[in-house]
Amino acid sequence: KKQSQLKEVAGIPLQSTTVDNWSQIQNFEAKPDDLLICTYPKAGTTWIQEIVDMIEQDADVEKCQRAIIQHRHPFIEWARPPQPSGVEKANAMPGPRILRTHLPTQLLPPSFWENNCKFLYVARNAKDCMVSYYHFQRMNQVLPDPGTWEEYFETFIDGKVGWGSWFDHVKGWWQKKDRHQVLFLFYEDIKKDPKHEIQKVAQFMGKNLDETVLDKIVQETSFEKMKENPMTNRSTVPKSILDQSISPFMRKGTVGDWKNHFTVAQNEKFDEIYREKMKGITINFCMQL
Ligand code: A3P
Repeated sequence: KKQSQLKEVAGIPLQSTTVDNWSQIQNFEAKPDDLLICTYPKAGTTWIQEIVDMIEQDADVEKCQRAIIQHRHPFIEWARPPQPSGVEKANAMPGPRILRTHLPTQLLPPSFWENNCKFLYVARNAKDCMVSYYHFQRMNQVLPDPGTWEEYFETFIDGKVGWGSWFDHVKGWWQKKDRHQVLFLFYEDIKKDPKHEIQKVAQFMGKNLDETVLDKIVQETSFEKMKENPMTNRSTVPKSILDQSISPFMRKGTVGDWKNHFTVAQNEKFDEIYREKMKGITINFCMQL
């Protein structure tokens, strides 16, 4: 069993190195032209990041790879001394910056709100997120052991996982969308109609893409392509951090894999809890394609 443990900030479990660096993170100075990619873990962070990169680089794969090597959009809450923290990396970046976070709205450094930054939020249905997170915690050696699927089911519902409750995360960002510049996207929509969703992202970024560029981005950001791409499949990360022999980072990339994991009883219980926790919020998640 792995030793790694999470620490809490205001009731939200986070990686302990993040918590140890908390004042630096909270004091982060956002700039008005920052674009922040926001996701709950396993909602499609790597995917949207690749889409954003490709849009930025006009679908030039090589330019994109060079850009990634220079600056993979830092996670503002990332910290693992002695390496530079996400905040330090972001501070050293030229603008306009594209940054990433998994933080729920209430833990975001306040300067992002004060500077009226753009936020790109990707949401994924809770059941597929849970399945993906379970397999990720099995293979990620710096996150806690997930235990059995039955145990993880409870842990996830209780929000006792890194970055806290899926329900609160999604609700928080959904509620921000009317008062801030939030483009709220769904994993399932990108899967179903990538071209349409990529076009929306480009527009949000103030970019006009022509048809051939758009088609190329659709192709290059497909699951199959990204699974083979060493810049996106995490094959360069040491096994002591991500053990892909347990479960690959690019695992399945589908909608509805929860059906292969949830028992009928678990599904009924989950639906009931979902209704309770998401009361008053009308977000319709697609559960299968
Ligand atoms: P699965 O575990 O269900 O396969 P994140 O990047 O936020 O950690 O999310 C990882 C999830 O997104 C994984 O889900 C991964 O396979 C999926 N994913 C990554 N790239 C994808 C793509 N191009 N198309 C569809 N799913 C993708």
